[in-house]
Amino acid sequence: MRNRFRILALGTASVATALGIFAQSPQAPPPAAAGQTPASAPPSGQAPTPGRPHVFNSGEPRPQEDPVVAAHGKALYGINCQACHGPDLRGGDMGGPNLLRSQAALTDHHGENIIPIIQGARQAQGMPNIGLNNDDAGAVAAYVRSVIGTIGSQGKPPGEDKPLNIVVGYATRGQAYFAAHCANCHSATGDLKDIATRFPEPRVLQTRWVTGARTSATAGAGAQATVEVIPTLSTGGGPAVSGDLVHIDDFLVTVRLSDGTERSFKRLGPTVPRIVVHDPLERHREMLPTYTDENIHDVTAYLVTLK
Ligand code: HEC
Ligand code: HEC
Repeated sequence: MRNRFRILALGTASVATALGIFAQSPQAPPPAAAGQTPASAPPSGQAPTPGRPHVFNSGEPRPQEDPVVAAHGKALYGINCQACHGPDLRGGDMGGPNLLRSQAALTDHHGENIIPIIQGARQAQGMPNIGLNNDDAGAVAAYVRSVIGTIGSQGKPPGEDKPLNIVVGYATRGQAYFAAHCANCHSATGDLKDIATRFPEPRVLQTRWVTGARTSATAGAGAQATVEVIPTLSTGGGPAVSGDLVHIDDFLVTVRLSDGTERSFKRLGPTVPRIVVHDPLERHREMLPTYTDENIHDVTAYLVTLK
């Protein structure tokens, strides 16, 4: 997880926008998202227990979410959360837990639990600060509640883990998409010819191709970003230093040298010292926000045929 997140958090602008992951200055506690039922609204006439949040029972009717807000939240979820929490919110290969079982999500009324988590409250536990503002985070929370609501009303208690078939796309369309967007780097008869044998579980395969990243089992192998730091006169000069990229943000860059030692450099400005990052997975991250659900389903349907 730690390793994965470091790779995700490489400080290029495209990464930051694609995943919305940026160290942010602390934010004020979020107000309720606009247009939503206030927290105190008792769901079915009963007064909420003072001092304790009302906990929805499964199947209990929930307030309807504003469909426009929920749709906006769904789009944001696809970009910012899906890779880790899965397309169906039931958890993903990259370590995000099942949100349909999350107490925080199940008891959320207007974002009061979910928004702080999106904004970094659980960083110590491995959930990054996604850096969405209150309105956007509130919309994602509304979407999460709307999905939980659907499950409740169908009488399926959340937490009943049915294996979901995620291979619902069209392989031929996926093949065409692959030819247009992936074939300049990959080949169905070359490096990916047995990808479905190596990743027989479609969900794992899907996360794999969406992120391009290694699963924790193989973390560290390949696809490592490298960096060259070229000191300038104002940083004391000296020879350029290059190696594996350990960490980069606006203030600091850390390089692992070939002998295993690490060196950190203060960043006095965007080009002081000069920094050249080579990240083999940059293209994967740039593409992330461009996929539609259909693209993702189609490409997965195609890749599962490569055995
Ligand atoms: C890089 C992976 C990653 C991304 C991206 C991510 N999460 Fe998480 N999330 C996690 C992990 C890991 C945890 C478990 C943290 C913990 O144990 O509390 C978590 C926990 C949560 C929880 C609390 C679950 C519980 O245990 O009750 C919520 C709610 C949540 N995430 C929502 C979101 C939303 C919404 C987004 C997108 C805006 C998002 N996450 C993006 C990894 C991620
Ligand atoms: C600009 C080049 C580039 C493009 C375009 C690209 N990828 Fe990748 N992809 C990579 C690199 C680099 C890796 C990491 C390979 C490694 O570590 O061996 C990777 C990894 C992967 C992996 C994991 C491979 C493995 O052996 O585990 C899959 C699957 C994958 N990409 C699928 C795709 C798909 C599908 C597309 C198109 C939607 C795509 N890639 C577009 C460069 C690219």
